[in-house]
Amino acid sequence: MSSSPQIAYIRRPLSALKQVARHVMVAVASWLHRLGVFFLVSARRLVRLTERHTIDTTSDRFVMELPELHRKIRRELAMQRRDYDSYSYFHGYPYQALAILDVFGERGTEERFDAYGLADLVRPEDRLLDIGCNCGFMALYAAFRTGCRADGIDINPYMIRIGQHCTEFLQLQDRVKLVAQPFQDYRPAQVYTVVLSFATHWTDDRNYRVRLQDHLLRIHGMMANGGLLVFESHSADVGNAEFYAALEEMRAHFSWEGRRLMAKGTRELYLMRRLAA
Ligand SMILES: C[S@@+](CC[C@H](N)C(=O)[O-])C[C@H]1O[C@@H](n2cnc3c(N)ncnc32)[C@H](O)[C@@H]1O
Repeated sequence: MSSSPQIAYIRRPLSALKQVARHVMVAVASWLHRLGVFFLVSARRLVRLTERHTIDTTSDRFVMELPELHRKIRRELAMQRRDYDSYSYFHGYPYQALAILDVFGERGTEERFDAYGLADLVRPEDRLLDIGCNCGFMALYAAFRTGCRADGIDINPYMIRIGQHCTEFLQLQDRVKLVAQPFQDYRPAQVYTVVLSFATHWTDDRNYRVRLQDHLLRIHGMMANGGLLVFESHSADVGNAEFYAALEEMRAHFSWEGRRLMAKGTRELYLMRRLAA
């Protein structure tokens, strides 16, 4: 049912107001988070003071070196605000949060990793690719948790640099490679046994708009036979007939291992096994 012009006239400023309110709330949340890290480090400093005889500078680097890591992250975000001429997700903060390093962001990496069952799906011998990986935290965390090798690719160089700072912090540079590049141009030298495509088969920033079939076929071309594709939809895909029809077309190339509803039923997660070409 379409609304009257008067109602539309009222709704527009209301939704603009809501957007401003959301922006302010996220900024406040980020400041609270920063304050939390300050208290965390202060608490650790107190412990160091009392245990001076046993603690050296490397024994609690996960807390004591956080301020330097977070300074680097803030620098990247400031550069993104100043120089990036594309749409920035989550009001200019990372789309992904990483609790193990206290990185503020919209969607929790550790929680998603567990909710998607990745601990049971990814093995130490896997070679994993994360497409449109944002900060690459899912690839990084997969390597951290399972010991696998992981590559991540995203068009946004600021998010990729944030991921690289975190990779160095966790000393995982040997196993995790994050690259700033459009997925359309990506030509990997090897095939992958696990591919993650999370909320990225079309993008809000409009930097990636291809047919879903073409997206999945491209992925198919980068995978080893029997490899696993873990595919997360957008909310807007749920209930969309065109989306399901495109997925059905792919049954010649992938076998379905499962479909789950995620994020209170607003997203769908598919496990798809690559069939031989
Ligand atoms: C909605 S976010 C999803 C991020 C991540 N996959 C996740 O679920 O946490 C979409 C991501 O796709 C990236 N992106 C947009 N166009 C791209 C392209 N052509 N190639 C690679 N990445 C792209 C954006 O920079 C953004 O980080």
